[in-house]
Amino acid sequence: MREVAIVAAGMTRFGELWESSLRDLFVQAAAEALAAAGVDRLDSIYVGNMAAGQFVGQEHLGPLMADHLGMAGVPAVRVECACASGGAALRAAFFEVASGASDLVLASGVEKMTDGADVTAVLATASDQETEAYHGITFPGLYAMIARAHMQKHGTTEEQLAWVAVKNHRHGALNPKAQFRREVKVEDVLASSMVSDPLRLLQCSPVSDGAAAVLLCPLDQARKYTDRPVKIRASAMATSTMALADRADPSFLDAVKLSGERAFRQAGLKPSDIQLAEVHDCFSISEICCIEALGFVEVGKGGRAAQDGLTALGGRTPVNTSGGLKSKGHPVGATGIAQAIEIFEQLRGDAGKRQVKDARIGLTQNMGGSGASSVTHIFERV
Ligand code: COA
Repeated sequence: MREVAIVAAGMTRFGELWESSLRDLFVQAAAEALAAAGVDRLDSIYVGNMAAGQFVGQEHLGPLMADHLGMAGVPAVRVECACASGGAALRAAFFEVASGASDLVLASGVEKMTDGADVTAVLATASDQETEAYHGITFPGLYAMIARAHMQKHGTTEEQLAWVAVKNHRHGALNPKAQFRREVKVEDVLASSMVSDPLRLLQCSPVSDGAAAVLLCPLDQARKYTDRPVKIRASAMATSTMALADRADPSFLDAVKLSGERAFRQAGLKPSDIQLAEVHDCFSISEICCIEALGFVEVGKGGRAAQDGLTALGGRTPVNTSGGLKSKGHPVGATGIAQAIEIFEQLRGDAGKRQVKDARIGLTQNMGGSGASSVTHIFERV
């Protein structure tokens, strides 16, 4: 397999973007990436998207997006893996370049969630219809059950859950592309309205619109497009049981652990080699579970890590310097690519006030459903 690099990125602001349609968002992000690399052709396009058919009535996104980018004729396909669609699109693009089949591939993600669909019902289609959604459980409900299981098993507290949100809002306040650019205090989080006990409004990722795109090519061609390529050292995926009730321990995300172990093996690295990470904090509890499953902290200590500042900017392993899904926003199909863009910018030294000093190796972990799928990538500054 060939070594693969990211050479350029483009991303819209995340938020309620009333003025832009699904295709507008994609074109804005994709065109920015192409312009950054000085490129006007592509060999292939992957579009990560969870549910445009349900959110805005639009399927068949591959050709639609290629056409609106002015690239009709180019192979283009949508990749769906619930909230991990962006990560899965990046993985597909990585393998297309690594295999030698293509030289210039765009990995993108887009979602338009605020156009009036019943968002909670649409998102619930990513849970098990027969044993979960049909009975009325929502995504906040599923993650609330994970949180309760974690609290019971490990003594994780509501304050610790709140600290994840405080940290990510603090990071997001430094990110010009974030949906929420305001800091919040632990008291604010604990006083915000209850969504699904114990998860409150300020512990949930929001409903968002947005798009993100990265351009991949073989590492040995990367200098044609940028003087600061970022190498993809690993691309790994894993799955778990679809239904939460089928897991031996609902407080532990085994697909995250598996995808992490596979990525570390591919890269020849261990968790302590990772200097910063973007992980899937769709709810505050999921960041806690993800950093435990990836091996950044001992199982059961994820809540403490946020409270003690271990995962904050300036801490031992900064997590979600972009603001994470919580504060940056979570247009579900775009999230996995946006995570890669944060690491890309950090490793190139372009992260502004969020910059992690001397960042050389970073990781992204993107999750689908209540942990039924997980995609992990590891990146290195060249
Ligand atoms: N964090 C912080 N503030 C939020 C927020 C969030 N997640 N969601 C909404 N808000 C704010 C809005 O900006 C608005 O503020 P304003 O009154 O100052 O304008 C206010 O809260 C009410 O917004 P509204 O859109 O009416 O909220 P809602 O009650 O309809 O939705 C949630 C709130 C938590 C239910 C919704 O954001 C949600 O479903 N999140 C989870 C999404 C999800 O499951 N994603 C997939 C994960 S796997």
